[in-house]
Amino acid sequence: MTPDLLEAGGRRAERRGAAAPTGLNNTASGGRNASAGRLVTPGAVDMTHGRILYLENVSVSFDGFKAINQLSLDIAPGELRCIIGPNGAGKTTMMDIITGKTRPDAGTVFFGSTIDLLAHKEAEIAQLGIGRKFQKPTVFEQLTVFENLELALKTHKGVRASMFFRLDSLQSDRLAEMLVTIQLAGSVNRLAGNLSHGQKQWLEIGMLLMQDPKLLLLDEPVAGMTDEETARTAELFLTLKGKHSLMVVEHDMGFIRTISEIVTVLCDGSVLAQGTLDQVQADERVIEVYLGR
Ligand SMILES: Nc1ncnc2c1ncn2[C@@H]1O[C@H](COP(=O)(O)OP(=O)(O)O)[C@@H](O)[C@H]1O
Ligand SMILES: [Mg+2]
Repeated sequence: MTPDLLEAGGRRAERRGAAAPTGLNNTASGGRNASAGRLVTPGAVDMTHGRILYLENVSVSFDGFKAINQLSLDIAPGELRCIIGPNGAGKTTMMDIITGKTRPDAGTVFFGSTIDLLAHKEAEIAQLGIGRKFQKPTVFEQLTVFENLELALKTHKGVRASMFFRLDSLQSDRLAEMLVTIQLAGSVNRLAGNLSHGQKQWLEIGMLLMQDPKLLLLDEPVAGMTDEETARTAELFLTLKGKHSLMVVEHDMGFIRTISEIVTVLCDGSVLAQGTLDQVQADERVIEVYLGR
């Protein structure tokens, strides 16, 4: 896109932004204004339209069963979006589609305004800045906490670079900061295999963060954690909000209440409801299919 086209687009977005009322539910992303006119630097994600992630009419079937059905959803830069919904709703499959693990049969998936994620492979999507945390912790149990974080930095640089990899002082500082962020500064030389379940989850989140993802997808991050670990994870996520965009799938309503702004309810592969937690919890259809009476 040429700069003047970008500028014209920015002006259009500005006019739309000015005309639009700013109540919570006026746009799919909760009334956030588009960040019009933002300069796009090489390697940065173009967020001219105020969206870091944009899915439209996405569908995928497995053996004739529609796991994702005309799903449309978008996320604003820096947003922490919570996704809830019954088992089998398609939450994990949605993440598989965003990360390139599963190809949809139809629909559009964009990262920012210009990156068509369906044109990229899984490894490329990770390189573009989308990190994913699967349900089970996948840290290297035989390595220390420090070595796991160091490895996350190395592998992000590619195999060739990683053979000659030495931490520079900036990276050492980042690693030290990360240890504090994920509350493992006191466990730096412990083997990852000896950490608690919650600590392993934090270590893996730290490994993802070392790669400085723009968007982070987390699938049931507090499942199996103690109440205290869950509370600490909520604190951690709140510190990440704004710096990264996050999509968090969870069943733990207390956790969702602590961290959520907008909650999207998925059911049968599409969005059933969206709004604040109070709004979706009061929605009859959500009570019917998910929360129970
Ligand atoms: N690779 C696959 N092959 C066949 N069926 C699948 C596959 N992945 C998911 N499904 C089915 O799609 C539906 C949605 O699954 P999933 O995305 O895991 O739901 P959720 O994460 O919301 O519990 C389920 O019925 C599941 O069995
Ligand atoms: Mg799942």
